[in-house]
Amino acid sequence: MVRFSVFCAALTALLLAEPAHADDNIVTVGMILPMTGQQASTGKQERAGAELYMQQHGDTVAGKKIVLEVKDDTGAADVTKRLAEELIGNDHAKVLMGFGLTPLALATAPVATEAKVPEIVSAAATAMITEKSPYIVRTSFTLPQASAPMAEWAAKNGIKKVVTVVADYGPGIDAEKWFSETFEKNGGSVAEKIRVPLKNPDFAPFLQRVKDDAPDAVFVFVPSGQGAIFMKEFVERGLDKSGIKLIGTGDVTDDDLLADIGDAALGAVTTHHYSAAHDSPENKAFVAAFEKANNGMRPNFMAVGAYDGMALIYQALEKTKGDASGDALLAASVIPMALLGGIFSLWITRTPFSVSAAIGFVALFGIAAMDGILILSYYHLSLESGLSRVNAMLQTCRTQLRPVMMTCIVACVGLLPAAFSSGIGSQVQRPLALVVVGGMLLAPALILLVLPVLVLKFCRAQELPEELPREGAT
Ligand code: DHB
Repeated sequence: MVRFSVFCAALTALLLAEPAHADDNIVTVGMILPMTGQQASTGKQERAGAELYMQQHGDTVAGKKIVLEVKDDTGAADVTKRLAEELIGNDHAKVLMGFGLTPLALATAPVATEAKVPEIVSAAATAMITEKSPYIVRTSFTLPQASAPMAEWAAKNGIKKVVTVVADYGPGIDAEKWFSETFEKNGGSVAEKIRVPLKNPDFAPFLQRVKDDAPDAVFVFVPSGQGAIFMKEFVERGLDKSGIKLIGTGDVTDDDLLADIGDAALGAVTTHHYSAAHDSPENKAFVAAFEKANNGMRPNFMAVGAYDGMALIYQALEKTKGDASGDALLAASVIPMALLGGIFSLWITRTPFSVSAAIGFVALFGIAAMDGILILSYYHLSLESGLSRVNAMLQTCRTQLRPVMMTCIVACVGLLPAAFSSGIGSQVQRPLALVVVGGMLLAPALILLVLPVLVLKFCRAQELPEELPREGAT
C-alpha cells in the first residue's frame, strides 16, 4: 500500500512535470524485457500478459492513452540500463516495467531514482530489489516467499536429508538460504549446497553429485525457462529412479514448459504464488483469454506479473487523474480572492466601473494567478521530498511568504501615487490603480491563508510516506 502511494506520487509528479514537447495525453510504458537469448521465454510471456490486460481494459485510462513500448535487452544489464535511459530521455516514458532477471532490475534502479520514474518489477524476484530505489514496486514475487513453505512441507512429509541446487545469483542464493534455514529449523538437514552458473548451465555434473550424496530430496531453483533442461537431465541421470524426490520453487515446473517437460514432472512437488491450474473462476477466465490471444500458449507466473503490472498502472492513473486540472482550478481560485479587494476599493472610493478599472482587474488576475502557481508548485515539490501534506503546506507558506508579499507590495507601492493622484488625467489612471492596490492589499492574506486550506481539502495529489519501509514490501 505504501509503495502504491509512492508509485502514485511519482506518476502524478511525472504527469504534472511533462515537458512542453511531449503529448500530455499519452502515457508511454517502457517495457524492457529479454525478448531474445536465454531468457526469451520470460520476455514472450511478460509481453503477452501486458498486452492481454490492455486488450481487455482498452488503451485509454483516465483520459490518457497508454502506449506500450517493448524493448529487447537480450538479458544483458548494460543494455537494460541504456534502454531505460533512452526510454525516459527520448520516448518520455512515464513508467518502466519488466526486468526478466534480478541484475537487469538492479541496473535500472539508479536510473529510476535519478529520473523519479516508477520502475515496476514484474519478473525479477530477489527479495532485496525493492530496497534499491523508492521508485521500485514489484508485481512478481520473492524467492523467500516460495522457498520457506517448501521447506515446511518437506519437513512435515518425511524428508530428512536434502541437497540444494540453485542458480548462482541473487534469487538462487535467496532460495538456498530460506529453504535451508527453514528446513533446519524444522528438524531437517542440508547435506550439500550446490550453486550452478546462471549462463548456459550444464546440470549433469551437479546432478551426479546429488546422486552420490543420496539425499531424500533435491531442492532446486532455476530461473524460468531452464526447468525443461534441468528435468531432462534429472531423468537422464536416473535420479527419478533412484528414489530422490524433486522439490523446489515453481520456477522449475514453469507452466509454459510443462508440455516440454512431460512425464519427467510427475512426482515433483513445488511451491509457488501462481499456477495456471489454480481452480478459481477468475484464473480460468484469465487462462482461457490468454490462450485464445496467444495461439494456445499457456500463461506462466511471468505473464501474471506483467498483467498485474499493467493493472497497477491503470489503477494508479485512475487514482491520480484530474490532478493537473485540479491544480489549475485551485490556482485559478485565487482570482476571485483578488477580485474582492479590487471591488472593495472601487466601492469605498465611490469610483464607477470603467475601462480603466477593467484593465486593473486584468493586471490583478495575472499577479494573483502567478502567486497561486508559486504556492502549488512549491507544495508539490515539498510532497515529493517526502513531507506529509500538512507539513508540506506549512513549509510552502513559510518559504513562499516572502515572494508572495514581494509581488503584492511591489504592485501596490508602484501604483499607490496613481491611486491617490488628483491632477489632470488622473481620472483615467486612478480606477486601474485603485483596483490593483485594493486587490494587492487583500490578496496575500487570502493566498497564504485560504488557498492552503483549499489545497489541503481538494488537491488529490498522493503524498509520499514520511518513512519508506525497508523490508517486506514487494
Ligand atoms: C528471477 C528470474 C526468473 O526467471 C525467475 O523464475 C525467478 C527469479 C530473477 O532473476 O530474479
